Amino acid sequence: MIDLLIKEYKNKIDTRLDMLLPQSDKQYKSVVDAARYSLLSGGKRIRPIILLEFYKLCGKNDDCAYNFACALEMIHTYSLIHDDLPCMDDDDLRRGKPSCHKKYGEATALLAGDALLTNAFLTASKTMGIDFRYVSESIGYLSACAGIDGMIAGQILDIEDIFKNSLEDTLLMYSLKTGKLLKAAALIGVTLAGGDETQKSAAISYAENLGLAFQIIDDILDTTATEEQLGKTVNSDDKNDKTTVVKRLGIEESKKLADKYTNAALDSLNTFSGDKTTLTELSNYLLNRNS
Ligand code: IPE
Ligand code: IPE
Ligand code: MG
Ligand code: MG
Ligand code: MG
Repeated sequence: MIDLLIKEYKNKIDTRLDMLLPQSDKQYKSVVDAARYSLLSGGKRIRPIILLEFYKLCGKNDDCAYNFACALEMIHTYSLIHDDLPCMDDDDLRRGKPSCHKKYGEATALLAGDALLTNAFLTASKTMGIDFRYVSESIGYLSACAGIDGMIAGQILDIEDIFKNSLEDTLLMYSLKTGKLLKAAALIGVTLAGGDETQKSAAISYAENLGLAFQIIDDILDTTATEEQLGKTVNSDDKNDKTTVVKRLGIEESKKLADKYTNAALDSLNTFSGDKTTLTELSNYLLNRNS
């Protein structure tokens, strides 16, 4: 059931993403090709799906939130392109294909990431059919969650050696590098739908807990899955001497912690009176995923 729903969402999101980037018929074709290659190469699309589901949960049944959903996916994809660069995690495989820099070279990959980041804001700004105050508030959340106090903060803490003191430090880094874009998804979904402060707090709590569970599972899969399953380089964390929750606690205890955070995320959904089936199933699917 959830597999089918994800597939339907993916098709719709992918069609829109395809239309939102320039076609490859320009003089500056290489950067367009590189951005399209990474953005349209698969991926679970969970951030846009979460955004759209929170929008629905707050009572909306139209397609007006799709531009923000696509904008968030562009930012996420840019973060993956840069995350794979030799100066960061130095990984050669992403979404089942050579990483962007492996196919197009480092300079082009860097610029493709920059292009997706900027294009995200262009896309969000073109939202139609939603009160401009909600659009502007949401652009603020998108910037804040992606920016220097958001995902970027997590990425720098991830690569800085000094930040390896305790489990709490590691979890704080996860909540920034992974939790913040999930926070953007949930919070923007509620905001665009005109949700109230209680709903916004519940959405944030959902995303913070899901973000921790999601990154812990990502780290487990890095050590247990195959490249065929994951579509990305495995044992990357070990290669880069990353201090992960798995390294601290082992696989069993890490899985228990991911269970705990997933349950806390599900509890946050109780604030909403709408239909939570898809978000509940999606959260459990992410906990038990193998890719
Ligand atoms: C990978 O995210 C990066 C992390 C935050 C762990 P996803 O697992 O959502 O990657 P795609 O979008 O499906 O490729
Ligand atoms: C990355 O975490 C989170 C991002 C902000 C891209 P990882 O470095 O563990 O993600 P993967 O495993 O390469 O997808
Ligand atoms: Mg990384
Ligand atoms: Mg990485
Ligand atoms: Mg990883």
